[in-house]
Amino acid sequence: MSDPFFTLHAEMPREGPGDRESLDWAMGVANLPRDAAILDAGCGPGADIEGLLAHAPRGHVTAVDLHPGFIAQVKARWGDDPRVTAEVADMRAPEGPFDLVWSAGALYFLGITQALEHFRTRLAPGGVVAFSELVWLSEVRPRAAVAALSQEYLPMGNIATLEARIAAADYDLCGLRVLTDAAWEAYYTPLDARIARLRPGADAALAEVLDAAEAEAALWRAHRDAFGYALAVVRPR
Ligand SMILES: C[S@@+](CC[C@H](N)C(=O)[O-])C[C@H]1O[C@@H](n2cnc3c(N)ncnc32)[C@H](O)[C@@H]1O
Repeated sequence: MSDPFFTLHAEMPREGPGDRESLDWAMGVANLPRDAAILDAGCGPGADIEGLLAHAPRGHVTAVDLHPGFIAQVKARWGDDPRVTAEVADMRAPEGPFDLVWSAGALYFLGITQALEHFRTRLAPGGVVAFSELVWLSEVRPRAAVAALSQEYLPMGNIATLEARIAAADYDLCGLRVLTDAAWEAYYTPLDARIARLRPGADAALAEVLDAAEAEAALWRAHRDAFGYALAVVRPR
């Protein structure tokens, strides 16, 4: 029987907030060589590969994710392009060296500190890590958001906490911004559509997954001022 989580998440264009506009901003900060070697760490279905290659048209993207279904999606889109290699692998496996480690919403699986420590060993001289991470944006932390987010994103800090973690890992912060609502909707609008398509006839297990996804989107829409994604571009000192 297929996993209901992946029934919902199959065919999604992306697996977390992000968009071309924010990627372009980060690439402006990163100032990559045109032939950059890039690691897309936790690439999901590969939504960011096109944008990454736009900034490194003679470069190469190594896209890795633990979920085979996502890598199949990447291969279906990029399999014929020699500039892209997609593998089911832990994001720590590729050896590099990379001019850029790009990780949209995936470093938290390792923890920012551990991830930055690890990727320091995978960067080429002058290379950067660009990643997005969930943070509190306000001092007021709605109880529903604390309850939902603390389970998955412990310990979730604010922007100052993130900056302190980056500095403690001995990296310089080259740039940081908060993802826009449009970047969030780039994830949630297609998710809404997929939930609506799957809802009729969903069995109990799938209905539970659909309910949870709906609740997650509703949480962000209700409390978007309280939490968001910081997108940071950092370089080892
Ligand atoms: C929130 S999703 C973001 C996916 C993609 N970057 C995007 O924005 O669409 C996080 C991804 O990280 C992957 N992941 C989690 N831990 C991983 C690991 N240790 N190595 C590689 N991928 C991992 C998950 O399978 C998932 O696809």
